[in-house]
Amino acid sequence: MLSSNLQSLFSLEGKTALVTGGGTGLGKIMAETMAQAGAKVLICSRKLANVKKTADEINKKLNSNLVIPFEGDISTEAGIEKIYKDVLNKVNKLNILVNNSGATWGEKLGNFPYSAWSKVLDVNVTGLFHLTQLFINLLEESADKNDPSRIINLGSVMGSAPHGDGPYSYSASKAAVHHITRILAKELGPRHITVNAFAPGPFESKMTKFAFSTDTKQKAMAESIPLKRTGRPLDISAATLYLCGKGGGYVTGAILPLDGGIHVDTGPELFEPAKHS
Ligand SMILES: NC(=O)c1ccc[n+]([C@@H]2O[C@H](COP(=O)([O-])OP(=O)(O)OC[C@H]3O[C@@H](n4cnc5c(N)ncnc54)[C@H](OP(=O)(O)O)[C@@H]3O)[C@@H](O)[C@H]2O)c1
Repeated sequence: MLSSNLQSLFSLEGKTALVTGGGTGLGKIMAETMAQAGAKVLICSRKLANVKKTADEINKKLNSNLVIPFEGDISTEAGIEKIYKDVLNKVNKLNILVNNSGATWGEKLGNFPYSAWSKVLDVNVTGLFHLTQLFINLLEESADKNDPSRIINLGSVMGSAPHGDGPYSYSASKAAVHHITRILAKELGPRHITVNAFAPGPFESKMTKFAFSTDTKQKAMAESIPLKRTGRPLDISAATLYLCGKGGGYVTGAILPLDGGIHVDTGPELFEPAKHS
């Protein structure tokens, strides 16, 4: 049993959060985790039915009204401005911004469609940056030196390690997310806002359905990961509570690898064959 002192490190009682793409996958896990920790959580995405369903499900489970869904598209300037206005109409402070919405596209090198480049970048980088920019003042007003506001950006191990596999614009976009995370961390520290990124490896979601569609595929993928498994919801929940809770207020500019060691995996030993020859 955790002492109440330790429990308070992870409490989000009285906090207000926005999770883009909070209706599905990792965003849903983060939204539920934060609501369980006591935060009011706004979730938005293009498909209103999805975010409504998720909000109903979590609110019912927690017997609360902490999760508030609304429609929002971060791929256009008008969409981003609408999200900002909708948030201001619903709440008067924002302690946590989770830039989770993401898009991807996979194609072999040589065939990658021109249009798929900007489609992915518009959501993963342009939308993330401009939405963040709009919320900086509100995040700053909701913070102080001892309890900074928090931004978590969803990067990816594909933005840290040069995995090919086809999603060229996705990998480039996530490397950009990592870099903008560090730039914003530096600039927003003095304004009492921490900015960190998650760099997840494979977790089951709509985006990764193709890789989890059979047991054989899932097992092969797990075998290729140093810690021999794919990600679990609790890996995301624990990291969220750490970075958003009291104990995470001194961490900024981190790209947290939630990837079972993929980003430090360098393949076969370089000198091993030479030793045996
Ligand atoms: N799953 C993994 O293994 C993994 C690994 C590394 C990083 N990530 C990152 O984690 C984040 C969440 O992905 P996920 O795996 O949970 O996949 P997911 O379930 O497909 O989630 C993506 C979310 O983004 C939303 N979205 C897409 N385009 C949007 C737009 N224009 N405006 C607003 N929302 C939009 C989607 O909702 P609508 O379709 O309703 O808009 C959806 O809820 C992404 O940034 C992804 O790159 C995931």
